[in-house]
Amino acid sequence: MAVRLPRRFSAVPRALLSPDELLSTTRSVRRRLDLSRPVEREVLEDCLRLAQQAPTASYRQDWHFVVVTDSAQRAALGDLWRRGAERYLGRPGATGERNPLLDSVRHLVEHIHEVPVHVIPCIEGRTDGKPAVAQASRWASIVPAAWSFMLAARARGLGTVWTTFHLGFEHEAAELLGIPYEEVMQVALIPVAYTIGTNFKPAPRKPLETMVHWDRW
Ligand SMILES: Cc1cc2nc3c(=O)[nH]c(=O)nc-3n(C[C@H](O)[C@H](O)[C@H](O)COP(=O)(O)O)c2cc1C
Repeated sequence: MAVRLPRRFSAVPRALLSPDELLSTTRSVRRRLDLSRPVEREVLEDCLRLAQQAPTASYRQDWHFVVVTDSAQRAALGDLWRRGAERYLGRPGATGERNPLLDSVRHLVEHIHEVPVHVIPCIEGRTDGKPAVAQASRWASIVPAAWSFMLAARARGLGTVWTTFHLGFEHEAAELLGIPYEEVMQVALIPVAYTIGTNFKPAPRKPLETMVHWDRW
Protein backbone atom coordinates (compact mmCIF):
# COMPACT_ATOMS: atom_id res chain seq x y z
CA MET A 1 0.00 0.00 0.00
CA ALA A 2 1.38 3.41 -0.90
CA VAL A 3 1.73 5.45 2.27
CA ARG A 4 1.56 9.15 1.80
CA LEU A 5 3.90 10.76 4.27
CA PRO A 6 2.53 13.83 5.99
CA ARG A 7 3.59 17.00 4.28
CA ARG A 8 3.93 20.28 6.11
CA PHE A 9 0.47 21.10 7.40
CA SER A 10 -0.83 24.52 6.58
CA ALA A 11 -3.12 27.02 8.24
CA VAL A 12 -2.17 26.48 11.89
CA PRO A 13 -2.73 29.86 13.59
CA ARG A 14 0.46 31.73 14.48
CA ALA A 15 -0.34 31.72 18.18
CA LEU A 16 0.11 27.98 18.50
CA LEU A 17 -1.79 26.24 21.28
CA SER A 18 0.29 23.97 23.46
CA PRO A 19 -0.83 20.31 23.51
CA ASP A 20 -2.42 20.84 26.94
CA GLU A 21 -4.19 24.03 25.80
CA LEU A 22 -5.50 22.22 22.73
CA LEU A 23 -6.75 19.27 24.78
CA SER A 24 -8.37 21.47 27.43
CA THR A 25 -10.03 24.06 25.15
CA THR A 26 -11.51 22.00 22.33
CA ARG A 27 -15.10 22.78 23.25
CA SER A 28 -18.47 21.91 21.77
CA VAL A 29 -19.04 25.04 19.68
CA ARG A 30 -22.56 25.96 18.57
CA ARG A 31 -23.13 29.68 19.08
CA ARG A 32 -19.65 30.84 18.05
CA LEU A 33 -19.57 29.20 14.62
CA ASP A 34 -18.90 31.82 11.93
CA LEU A 35 -21.63 31.03 9.42
CA SER A 36 -20.44 33.62 6.93
CA ARG A 37 -16.86 32.43 6.44
CA PRO A 38 -16.16 29.55 4.07
CA VAL A 39 -13.76 26.80 5.15
CA GLU A 40 -11.01 26.01 2.67
CA ARG A 41 -10.90 22.46 1.33
CA GLU A 42 -7.15 22.16 1.98
CA VAL A 43 -7.63 23.02 5.66
CA LEU A 44 -10.24 20.26 5.95
CA GLU A 45 -7.90 17.87 4.14
CA ASP A 46 -5.09 18.67 6.59
CA CYS A 47 -7.42 17.88 9.49
CA LEU A 48 -8.50 14.65 7.81
CA ARG A 49 -4.88 13.60 7.17
CA LEU A 50 -4.18 14.10 10.86
CA ALA A 51 -7.32 12.09 11.69
CA GLN A 52 -5.85 9.24 9.63
CA GLN A 53 -3.01 8.99 12.12
CA ALA A 54 -5.43 7.52 14.70
CA PRO A 55 -5.49 3.75 15.28
CA THR A 56 -8.00 1.27 13.83
CA ALA A 57 -8.66 -2.31 14.96
CA SER A 58 -6.33 -4.74 13.12
CA TYR A 59 -4.95 -1.75 11.20
CA ARG A 60 -7.91 -1.99 8.86
CA GLN A 61 -8.12 1.72 8.07
CA ASP A 62 -11.78 1.18 7.26
CA TRP A 63 -12.91 4.63 8.29
CA HIS A 64 -14.61 7.12 6.00
CA PHE A 65 -15.49 10.80 6.30
CA VAL A 66 -18.30 12.26 4.24
CA VAL A 67 -17.62 15.99 3.98
CA VAL A 68 -20.73 17.90 2.99
CA THR A 69 -20.31 21.44 1.69
CA ASP A 70 -23.05 21.58 -0.97
CA SER A 71 -25.77 23.89 0.34
CA ALA A 72 -28.72 21.77 -0.86
CA GLN A 73 -27.23 18.65 0.74
CA ARG A 74 -26.60 20.55 3.98
CA ALA A 75 -30.17 21.82 3.96
CA ALA A 76 -31.54 18.28 3.53
CA LEU A 77 -29.18 16.87 6.15
CA GLY A 78 -30.07 19.79 8.42
CA ASP A 79 -33.75 18.80 8.21
CA LEU A 80 -32.93 15.29 9.45
CA TRP A 81 -30.65 16.67 12.17
CA ARG A 82 -33.36 19.11 13.28
CA ARG A 83 -35.93 16.31 13.52
CA GLY A 84 -33.58 14.47 15.90
CA ALA A 85 -32.89 17.65 17.86
CA GLU A 86 -36.59 18.36 18.22
CA ARG A 87 -37.12 14.88 19.68
CA TYR A 88 -34.35 15.60 22.19
CA LEU A 89 -35.66 19.05 23.04
CA GLY A 90 -39.23 17.76 23.25
CA ARG A 91 -38.43 15.02 25.77
CA PRO A 92 -40.18 15.29 29.15
CA GLY A 93 -38.42 17.87 31.29
CA ALA A 94 -36.64 19.72 28.47
CA THR A 95 -39.54 21.87 27.27
CA GLY A 96 -39.34 25.37 28.63
CA GLU A 97 -36.18 24.50 30.52
CA ARG A 98 -33.58 27.29 30.53
CA ASN A 99 -30.15 25.85 30.65
CA PRO A 100 -27.05 26.90 28.71
CA LEU A 101 -26.70 23.55 26.91
CA LEU A 102 -30.31 23.51 25.71
CA ASP A 103 -30.17 27.19 24.66
CA SER A 104 -27.02 26.44 22.71
CA VAL A 105 -28.66 23.42 21.06
CA ARG A 106 -31.71 25.56 20.17
CA HIS A 107 -29.38 28.07 18.54
CA LEU A 108 -27.81 25.39 16.37
CA VAL A 109 -31.26 24.01 15.49
CA GLU A 110 -32.01 27.39 13.92
CA HIS A 111 -28.72 27.52 12.03
CA ILE A 112 -27.57 23.97 11.27
CA HIS A 113 -28.17 24.38 7.51
CA GLU A 114 -26.01 27.53 7.51
CA VAL A 115 -22.95 25.84 9.01
CA PRO A 116 -20.55 25.72 6.04
CA VAL A 117 -19.39 22.13 6.51
CA HIS A 118 -21.02 18.99 7.91
CA VAL A 119 -18.61 16.09 8.46
CA ILE A 120 -20.00 12.59 8.92
CA PRO A 121 -17.44 10.07 10.21
CA CYS A 122 -18.35 6.53 9.18
CA ILE A 123 -16.98 3.04 9.77
CA GLU A 124 -17.29 -0.07 7.60
CA GLY A 125 -19.23 -2.92 9.21
CA ARG A 126 -22.59 -2.54 10.93
CA THR A 127 -22.74 -3.72 14.52
CA ASP A 128 -26.54 -3.70 14.98
CA GLY A 129 -27.30 -6.45 17.52
CA LYS A 130 -23.67 -7.62 17.74
CA PRO A 131 -21.87 -8.46 21.03
CA ALA A 132 -20.15 -5.71 22.99
CA VAL A 133 -16.66 -6.77 21.91
CA ALA A 134 -17.57 -6.37 18.24
CA GLN A 135 -19.27 -3.05 18.97
CA ALA A 136 -16.22 -1.80 20.85
CA SER A 137 -13.74 -2.52 18.07
CA ARG A 138 -15.92 -1.01 15.35
CA TRP A 139 -16.85 2.20 17.19
CA ALA A 140 -13.33 2.67 18.55
CA SER A 141 -11.96 2.39 15.03
CA ILE A 142 -13.59 5.68 14.13
CA VAL A 143 -14.09 7.70 17.33
CA PRO A 144 -10.35 8.41 17.94
CA ALA A 145 -9.94 9.53 14.31
CA ALA A 146 -13.00 11.77 14.51
CA TRP A 147 -11.76 13.34 17.74
CA SER A 148 -8.33 13.89 16.16
CA PHE A 149 -10.13 15.66 13.32
CA MET A 150 -11.85 17.92 15.87
CA LEU A 151 -8.57 18.68 17.66
CA ALA A 152 -6.81 19.44 14.37
CA ALA A 153 -9.72 21.71 13.45
CA ARG A 154 -9.44 23.61 16.73
CA ALA A 155 -5.68 24.05 16.13
CA ARG A 156 -6.61 25.81 12.88
CA GLY A 157 -9.21 28.16 14.34
CA LEU A 158 -12.18 25.95 13.48
CA GLY A 159 -14.98 24.98 15.85
CA THR A 160 -16.80 21.67 15.94
CA VAL A 161 -19.38 19.83 18.02
CA TRP A 162 -19.94 16.08 18.19
CA THR A 163 -23.62 15.47 17.41
CA THR A 164 -25.73 12.35 17.02
CA PHE A 165 -29.17 13.87 16.39
CA HIS A 166 -29.36 12.78 12.75
CA LEU A 167 -28.63 9.12 13.57
CA GLY A 168 -32.31 8.50 14.32
CA PHE A 169 -32.65 9.05 10.56
CA GLU A 170 -29.43 7.33 9.52
CA HIS A 171 -31.13 5.42 6.72
CA GLU A 172 -32.52 8.61 5.19
CA ALA A 173 -29.11 10.31 5.53
CA ALA A 174 -27.44 7.32 3.85
CA GLU A 175 -29.85 7.60 0.91
CA LEU A 176 -29.29 11.33 0.65
CA LEU A 177 -25.50 11.00 0.63
CA GLY A 178 -25.19 7.70 -1.24
CA ILE A 179 -23.65 5.91 1.78
CA PRO A 180 -24.06 2.10 1.50
CA TYR A 181 -26.16 1.69 4.67
CA GLU A 182 -25.91 -2.12 4.86
CA GLU A 183 -22.09 -1.99 4.98
CA VAL A 184 -21.29 1.35 6.59
CA MET A 185 -22.31 2.95 9.90
CA GLN A 186 -22.46 6.68 10.40
CA VAL A 187 -21.27 7.65 13.88
CA ALA A 188 -21.88 11.40 14.15
CA LEU A 189 -22.51 14.64 12.31
CA ILE A 190 -19.85 17.23 13.10
CA PRO A 191 -20.73 20.80 12.10
CA VAL A 192 -17.51 22.67 11.22
CA ALA A 193 -16.89 26.41 10.84
CA TYR A 194 -14.31 29.01 11.79
CA THR A 195 -14.98 30.21 15.32
CA ILE A 196 -15.91 33.75 16.25
CA GLY A 197 -12.81 34.51 18.31
CA THR A 198 -10.42 31.72 19.19
CA ASN A 199 -10.31 32.04 22.96
CA PHE A 200 -11.97 29.05 24.65
CA LYS A 201 -11.64 27.96 28.26
CA PRO A 202 -11.36 24.60 30.01
CA ALA A 203 -14.87 23.40 31.03
CA PRO A 204 -15.91 22.56 34.58
CA ARG A 205 -15.68 18.82 35.19
CA LYS A 206 -16.46 16.55 38.12
CA PRO A 207 -13.62 16.04 40.60
CA LEU A 208 -11.14 13.50 39.26
CA GLU A 209 -11.52 11.22 42.30
CA THR A 210 -15.21 10.63 41.46
CA MET A 211 -14.21 8.82 38.27
CA VAL A 212 -10.74 7.39 38.73
CA HIS A 213 -10.30 3.99 40.34
CA TRP A 214 -6.76 3.05 41.30
CA ASP A 215 -5.99 -0.66 41.24
CA ARG A 216 -9.68 -1.65 41.64
CA TRP A 217 -13.16 -0.08 41.38
C1 LIG B 1 -21.64 10.77 22.05
C2 LIG B 1 -22.01 12.23 22.07
C3 LIG B 1 -23.18 12.63 21.46
C4 LIG B 1 -23.53 13.98 21.43
N1 LIG B 1 -24.63 14.36 20.72
C5 LIG B 1 -24.93 15.67 20.62
C6 LIG B 1 -25.98 16.07 19.76
O1 LIG B 1 -26.64 15.28 19.08
N2 LIG B 1 -26.23 17.40 19.69
C7 LIG B 1 -25.49 18.33 20.35
O2 LIG B 1 -25.77 19.52 20.21
N3 LIG B 1 -24.47 17.97 21.17
C8 LIG B 1 -24.17 16.66 21.30
N4 LIG B 1 -23.10 16.27 22.06
C9 LIG B 1 -22.33 17.30 22.86
C10 LIG B 1 -22.75 17.24 24.35
O3 LIG B 1 -24.14 17.45 24.45
C11 LIG B 1 -22.07 18.32 25.20
O4 LIG B 1 -22.29 19.56 24.61
C12 LIG B 1 -20.61 18.14 25.31
O5 LIG B 1 -20.29 16.92 25.94
C13 LIG B 1 -20.02 19.28 26.15
O6 LIG B 1 -18.75 19.50 25.65
P1 LIG B 1 -17.88 20.75 26.11
O7 LIG B 1 -17.72 20.64 27.57
O8 LIG B 1 -16.65 20.55 25.35
O9 LIG B 1 -18.56 21.99 25.70
C14 LIG B 1 -22.72 14.95 22.08
C15 LIG B 1 -21.52 14.53 22.69
C16 LIG B 1 -21.16 13.20 22.67
C17 LIG B 1 -19.86 12.79 23.29
